[in-house]
Amino acid sequence: MKIKTAEFVISNTDYKLCPAPKMAEYAFIGRSNVGKSSLINALVNHKNLAKTSGKPGKTQLINHFSINKAWYLVDLPGFGFAKISKKMRAEFHDMISEYLINRTNLMCLFVLIDSRHKPQAIDQEFMQWLAEKGIPFVMVFTKTDKLGKVALAKNIGTYKVEMQKTWEELPQIFITSAEKKTGMQEIADFIENLNPQFKEII
Ligand code: GTP
Ligand code: MG
Repeated sequence: MKIKTAEFVISNTDYKLCPAPKMAEYAFIGRSNVGKSSLINALVNHKNLAKTSGKPGKTQLINHFSINKAWYLVDLPGFGFAKISKKMRAEFHDMISEYLINRTNLMCLFVLIDSRHKPQAIDQEFMQWLAEKGIPFVMVFTKTDKLGKVALAKNIGTYKVEMQKTWEELPQIFITSAEKKTGMQEIADFIENLNPQFKEII
């Protein structure tokens, strides 16, 4: 798929104020600093479309980007960000869970996992919750340029073994680096294949 245009549309705290759900939508989620915004930029070949930062907690809103004027990419805030108040964390949680549950045009959620880390309970619990709610998702391992080949294969192997303890079938997995643009073609092809399945719910 060729990305011809990628434009910022709007930022929101409330899914009800997001653009009308008239096009297929794909959202990116995961722990703070995992590389959500960077992955969106790499995918659409645009350095600064989604705002990135070395400090966790950069993205704090639901951000819509229109791609080829045909589908949306959505950059979401990270979860598990420690440096915010309990009240703010609860508000973030509600904002994201309401968006995920109610957004009728959400074709697939990309759950990002840092390829350098061991399986974390917060990610496992989040994916369990997605399954319970029937929200379609895939897994994306990020920042693979920071690991050697052997260490990367070992980490992903460990992750799969951990998941197989609780999951009958593993979700689809993408191995990526926003830095080296690894896996971008695979994600673009995945989206291109799903787009025709979009049906507007009226
Ligand atoms: P929040 O919005 O705070 O939740 O973070 P985020 O998940 O959007 O992460 P972001 O894209 O802002 O990236 C966080 C940091 O990781 C930045 O310093 C990025 O440059 C770096 N980063 C992201 N992806 C990669 C990657 O593939 N490789 C390397 N080496 N660094 C990356
Ligand atoms: Mg971000």
